[in-house]
Amino acid sequence: MLVRLQAEQERLLAALAEVADEDALYQLQVAYLGKKGSITALSKELGRVSPDERKRLGAELNRAKAAITEALEGRREALLAEARARDLARVEDLTMPPRRPPFGTLHPLTIARRALIQTFRRMGFDVAEGPHVEHANYNFDALNFQPDHPARDMQDTFGVRDRRGAGDLVLRTHTSPVQIRAMLQRTPPVRIIAPGTVFRCDDDATHSPMFHQIEGLYVDRGVTMADLKATMIQFTAAFFGRALDIRLRPSYFPFVEPGAELDMQCPFCGRARGQTCSVCKGAGWIELGGSGMVHPAVFEAVGVDPEVYTGWAFGFGIDRMAMLMYQIPDLRQMFDGDIRFLQSFPG
Ligand code: DAH
Repeated sequence: MLVRLQAEQERLLAALAEVADEDALYQLQVAYLGKKGSITALSKELGRVSPDERKRLGAELNRAKAAITEALEGRREALLAEARARDLARVEDLTMPPRRPPFGTLHPLTIARRALIQTFRRMGFDVAEGPHVEHANYNFDALNFQPDHPARDMQDTFGVRDRRGAGDLVLRTHTSPVQIRAMLQRTPPVRIIAPGTVFRCDDDATHSPMFHQIEGLYVDRGVTMADLKATMIQFTAAFFGRALDIRLRPSYFPFVEPGAELDMQCPFCGRARGQTCSVCKGAGWIELGGSGMVHPAVFEAVGVDPEVYTGWAFGFGIDRMAMLMYQIPDLRQMFDGDIRFLQSFPG
């Protein structure tokens, strides 16, 4: 048995020199010291020899095991040291820029919407929301649209078949119904903006059946149109980085009285000296959207006393805002999903 022990030990030492990695080292350890290993097999034979022999052989066996363990550990350390030396010897250029992971980019509309929200938040407006599938009542009636108003026509409005008995449903044609929801939920002062998607039966270079608006509403005692104008001047100053003039042109929307188109002075004019501005085409003004003083009939529909409170509202297109910011010529590019277009915006 001593001879075999000696032989095993030598075989191991020879094998150890061949071992090239930790995996192989582990295999070797198992082959000798594991449950079915050769040294373990030898120790099992101890039970069959005389007590004196057992004592002597046992001591030899233990010594051999210790020596083998030590040899394995020694080889393991040597392997680790080799690996470290290899790592350290590798010449890396630490000044090389890292490879960029393939991040997505923000859609120009998302950038515009976030910037708008941030600007109005700082001015004290809350963000309010409403559903895309809206009660016709909130989309039209409560906003003082008469039953025969042309905007209700199926040419403009996507109707939604009502399966749950919720009444007349439409895809909201504007963000104005959020005014109704906000006033039903809150008591004045109400100061909200409502950015969101709206839908109309329309499709050409300047109209998409799905587009985006931002609504603003301010209701309190003593609110006037001067507040609207001042707020819009503040807004353009914060948004475009310089104070721009605001122009109100009389117009009609059923839910405001008086109603006005809201224009802002073109922020891009004068950038290219001596040339006609390509954004406003030399007009000097850019149309933002509609606005006006909340109609008493709207207040009555939501239970706000028009003798006590007044308010203004505005609504304009975010898509057009983004097109202005980035000089995008065709609205449809915004929704085509062309990755080359989408990747060209600084996120
Ligand atoms: N909802 C109108 C539209 O989509 C825009 C609008 C006009 C909103 C006047 C308003 C407003 O809040 O006061 O055409």
